[in-house]
Amino acid sequence: MSMTADELDRRQAIIGACRRMNALGINQGTSGNISVRHVDGLLITPTSVPYDAMTPDQIVFMAMDGSHAPSQKPSSEWRFHLDILKARPDVNAVVHAHPTYCTILAIMGMEIPPVHYMIAAAGGDSIRCAPYATFGTMELSEHAVRALEGRLACLLDHHGMIAVGKSLDKAMWLAVEVETLARQYHGCLQIGEPPLLSSAEIERVRQRMSGYGMSEG
Ligand code: 13P
Repeated sequence: MSMTADELDRRQAIIGACRRMNALGINQGTSGNISVRHVDGLLITPTSVPYDAMTPDQIVFMAMDGSHAPSQKPSSEWRFHLDILKARPDVNAVVHAHPTYCTILAIMGMEIPPVHYMIAAAGGDSIRCAPYATFGTMELSEHAVRALEGRLACLLDHHGMIAVGKSLDKAMWLAVEVETLARQYHGCLQIGEPPLLSSAEIERVRQRMSGYGMSEG
């Protein structure tokens, strides 16, 4: 497979991010997947390949109509990766994982409310939980795109979470942050119903974050 140095870098960055997900404990085994916008399509992780064994040539190039080389096997979640990148010109990278605390809340069908000002980094005053649909289906993709409207992260009922961003580094940073928020919210719920920040305060934080160099995406 011939490719430019830039494309090879991008493929290696995807593999590096996959390994980081497991090292950071935000994912288990082969259960996450990552995509990055590339030329007139996207680069996406292959299905069910352990991250330690993943090689750059196994990363799949997919055109915006979902087509790819027949010898390659994209992630079973390619549909929501593709649909998110189609629906969101502001997004260049999509990270999907099954982090424990996000998944605990998602199993309970709960969204993350504004328990901490850092929720503003995900674009609004909540991180929504998309309704359940079987993995890899068009229905799950539609739910995910809707839950991400005006947001950079969402939970997936009985499944996990998605974080998106302008770059892979930003999407990865947000994935870790969302798991931290889920853990904090889960901890608060052990004590009682936590007090919430107002929507106006989250909006103020959003404005300040862009001045602080924590611009969204
Ligand atoms: P893939 O190995 O096909 O990417 O799928 C794992 C997964 O997380 C399904 O939601």
